[in-house]
Amino acid sequence: MDKIVILDFGSQTTQLIGRRIRDMGVYTEILPGDTPLDAEVLAETRGIILSGSPESVYENGAAPDRAVYECGLPLLGICYGLQRMNYDQGGLVEPLPRREYGRIGVTITEAEDAGNGGAANAAAIRRFLEGFPLNNGTRRFTAWMSHGDTLTRLAPGFRAYGLSDTGYPAVLIHEERPWFGLQFHPEVTHCEGGAGILRAFVFAVCGAGAGWTMERYVQELRSSLAERVGDSPVLLLISGGVDSTVAGALLLAALPPDQVHLMYMDTGLMRKDETKTVKAALEKLGARHLHIVYCGEEFLSALKGLAEPEAKRKVIGDLFITIQEREVRALGLPDSYFLAQGTLYTDLIESGKGVGKKAQLIKSHHNVGSPLVDAKRRAGRILEPLDRLYKDEVRRLGALVGVDQEVLRRHPFPGPGLAVRILGEVTAEKCDILREADAIFIEELKSRRSAETGNSFYDDIWQAFAVLLPIRSVGVAGDVRKYGWVLALRAITSADGMTADVYPFPAADLLEISTRITNTVKDIGRVTYDISSKPPATIEWE
Ligand code: XMP
Repeated sequence: MDKIVILDFGSQTTQLIGRRIRDMGVYTEILPGDTPLDAEVLAETRGIILSGSPESVYENGAAPDRAVYECGLPLLGICYGLQRMNYDQGGLVEPLPRREYGRIGVTITEAEDAGNGGAANAAAIRRFLEGFPLNNGTRRFTAWMSHGDTLTRLAPGFRAYGLSDTGYPAVLIHEERPWFGLQFHPEVTHCEGGAGILRAFVFAVCGAGAGWTMERYVQELRSSLAERVGDSPVLLLISGGVDSTVAGALLLAALPPDQVHLMYMDTGLMRKDETKTVKAALEKLGARHLHIVYCGEEFLSALKGLAEPEAKRKVIGDLFITIQEREVRALGLPDSYFLAQGTLYTDLIESGKGVGKKAQLIKSHHNVGSPLVDAKRRAGRILEPLDRLYKDEVRRLGALVGVDQEVLRRHPFPGPGLAVRILGEVTAEKCDILREADAIFIEELKSRRSAETGNSFYDDIWQAFAVLLPIRSVGVAGDVRKYGWVLALRAITSADGMTADVYPFPAADLLEISTRITNTVKDIGRVTYDISSKPPATIEWE
């Protein structure tokens, strides 16, 4: 299958480049910026994109394998990627007097005589420039930039085909070789016509074929899984979330069900009826060996007396590993078994594995290392069939292998469960109170519709939940004074959990939901709505 390789130098928008191109039906692979470009990487590659970066080229920023300039493939440098190409080819890159950030106009200045000077690259240059937005006969549009450096001397062969309103080179193309560069970010939605520019590179310059469909990918995954596993058993650790459920469905679709062992730990920190729902969903998918480990009491006694968030997380992480090892041993699988995980592409990126030298570890604290996983990885017996996919692609794949929409549309739920949503000490009683309140909140969100979009609130919201605060407050119930707990409701919109906006509820809905909660859950005396965005707040309260 034709593919576009994206060399990642650590920009926060690298994933978006991949997204945009896959949306065009072309397969992409994002690799660390300094990956050696051997024959395996280059097989079926039609073009290479060099991403942005928080680094500066003149401060020893991450560099690509020199082979990138010798492989003959079309290159597209975006921001740092462009500066990198210019610098590596003998040009100069220097700091701007003032960092440029946000929307900036760009005009294509040289389109008329593109390549007329006999440039070998002439036809490709014209095809590329035709992808830029045309406004009233001029290729002038609003781009989106975020850079502190600029090109102060172009490397031999490069020519500026577009300038920003601030007078800096914005579109650079090599006259002889298929090398293209943009100082702006076509992948972000604020860039006018950005998808068209990427499309021009992918199709008109690289001539990539659009062979990426989910149906085809599922077929390939099924046969490659079956081939790799042979007749060894596979154990998948299920959390109950979308990713591991889809991974389970895929294994059950690819392998005889007797080969597939699914293990799920009920830590007692789950949402209401979670274990029941997970069990029903997996049985419906054909699971024969579903091992549900009920370990709520062990977790609660380990958490006794702990109020500090990091201490709670540590105890949960450690106990998870201990129980996992014990229970896996008890299954008595032969050593040759494969361990499967529902790791997504974004999980790899977020734990810093996909980026350049100064990899920014964004969410490493969410990924608890496990000796079992490490040992299996060393033995080459880990299966991560979703590790090339984004969340919404996983949802599409899930639908193709029979996972119910009800499961696929579920909001994310943190590994440590309700322990991060009960502030202070976690007790069985508090878990029950929170479970009840949270279930009412979620049920209401599913049954109420937004007048604006026509969808249920639940589907418009990225993540919603209730948080039990370690505070009691006075109230009255009938004629009796009541001293109930305070509950916070949280509902946010987000694309990926990295940033989040508060969901703007109509006040009447919030009031009705709050009333139902205080009327039903007798221990809750007061309900508040969290109106903090991320940043500065995080999504969970901890
Ligand atoms: P924060 O609170 O960091 O959360 O803004 C971002 C997203 O990550 C989820 N989250 C976790 N997921 N294990 C997980 O699997 C964890 O320890 C964890 N902590 C937070 C959170 O629910 C949100 O979707």
